[in-house]
Amino acid sequence: MPRYIAALDQGTTSSRCMIFNHGGEVVAHHQLEHQQIYPQAGWVEHDALEIWDRARDVVRSAMEKAGLIAADIAAVGVTNQRETTLVWDKKTGQPYANAIVWQDTRTDKICNQLAQNGGQDRFRAQTGLPLATYFSGPKIKWLFDNVSGLRDAAERGDALFGTMDSWIIWKLTGGPGAGAVHVTDVTNASRTLLMNLQTLDWDEEILAELDIPRSMLPRIRPSSDPKFYGLTRADGPFGGEIPVCGALGDQQAATVGQTCFAVGEAKNTYGTGCFLLLNTGTDIVHSQHGLLTTLCYQFGKQKPVYALEGSIAIAGALVQWLRDRMRLINTAADVENLAKMVDDNGGMYFVPAFSGLFAPYWRSEARGLVIGMTRFITRGHFARAALEAVAYQTREVVDAMAADSGVELKALKVDGGMTANELLMQIQADVLGVPVIRPKVAESTALGAAYAAGLAVGYWKNPEDLRKNWGVDKTWQPSADDTLRTRNYRMWKKAVSRTFDWLE
Ligand code: G3P
Repeated sequence: MPRYIAALDQGTTSSRCMIFNHGGEVVAHHQLEHQQIYPQAGWVEHDALEIWDRARDVVRSAMEKAGLIAADIAAVGVTNQRETTLVWDKKTGQPYANAIVWQDTRTDKICNQLAQNGGQDRFRAQTGLPLATYFSGPKIKWLFDNVSGLRDAAERGDALFGTMDSWIIWKLTGGPGAGAVHVTDVTNASRTLLMNLQTLDWDEEILAELDIPRSMLPRIRPSSDPKFYGLTRADGPFGGEIPVCGALGDQQAATVGQTCFAVGEAKNTYGTGCFLLLNTGTDIVHSQHGLLTTLCYQFGKQKPVYALEGSIAIAGALVQWLRDRMRLINTAADVENLAKMVDDNGGMYFVPAFSGLFAPYWRSEARGLVIGMTRFITRGHFARAALEAVAYQTREVVDAMAADSGVELKALKVDGGMTANELLMQIQADVLGVPVIRPKVAESTALGAAYAAGLAVGYWKNPEDLRKNWGVDKTWQPSADDTLRTRNYRMWKKAVSRTFDWLE
């Protein structure tokens, strides 16, 4: 048996390859950012060819750093930013347009029109999702309405749709004309607004309503697939044929990486956005408080496991915005020191409704605001208010989870890049009033994809085998002062209420 598992994590801002050993430790990794394209207010795009270039480069570099060849890798797992929508030509491999990113709000009119007949929750029973700009289905419809020739190409069978997992797997296994496989896994499919949660198949009624031909959609497969999706191309970045047999949307991958295999276990990942998932087992639990019902994972032929999810659009993206567009900091890590220059938020609140507001509100028309400013405010307060915004948004989804499940959170397992920010983690514990726990491998997303692939080839035997790899790195206890979780949280809610109905 080869000694390692490789995971390719295609995220919103970067792609990374991580190579893991049997203990779940990282033996090598490489990461590269790609361009964020903002053609107009509310729009966010990615160049899928650039993303593939980055993905290829990170794989090559990680393999080189570890001094490995394809024969050392037992299996490859893919994880990805979810919902981001791409349509490409299967003969040439050329995208018909830039990928429309999950944060993009251009489909708000399409969503409003669809909601006129049956309301925002008209597809919730089948899909677990409200009608919102976040999901892929309306983005595909937008592409059909706006890219000339696309409908003809789809009807001829030339155009393929995929989220980034499908695109990466298609490229890894072949590319144009070389036996590429066109698949997605249940977790990614559950974010399209097109998959039925019960049947795990595309929903005919919704396809008809959105006028999307089934022939352009990928085959839906388990997240961990002993039958393999396909093999990497011998002349591809791995330099040999390796089974590609694990795929999960990045948030579900992090849930697996954190070994949340029991009903009631939850994790929160701080990436571009922030996503809290609670394992609800084989039951489909419909939310009454603004959460999503989604696939958590499916291992081989086992019954699928579902989750409740609280999705927050903007978390790390706010720090990136302070860096790249406001130029308030030079590196993302600087935000912590800047925030430490002040004792508190100085009365300032920053609601980053840049993509509308996701859970628990689902208000596409909301827009960001900064409120409570006086001449007292400094750059430090901006940084502090940005970190507090991440913590308050998490509190809102934790409250919704408690209301839906009737179970109070006792501790929060966290992961993702922003958990390196110790001040944020302390603020989070204070805002929630429960301990915040960071595991030894905070890159749970890539680890989860590796686990899915490794389970498929028997590298790991079962989920219990994986639990042994999980260990605590650090715990933050809530402080005795409850200002953040009482008064300030109340003020935050007031600030949020002012972001609604902003657009004409
Ligand atoms: O649903 C969007 C999510 O998958 C993006 O994750 O880690 O790129 O913020 P991330």
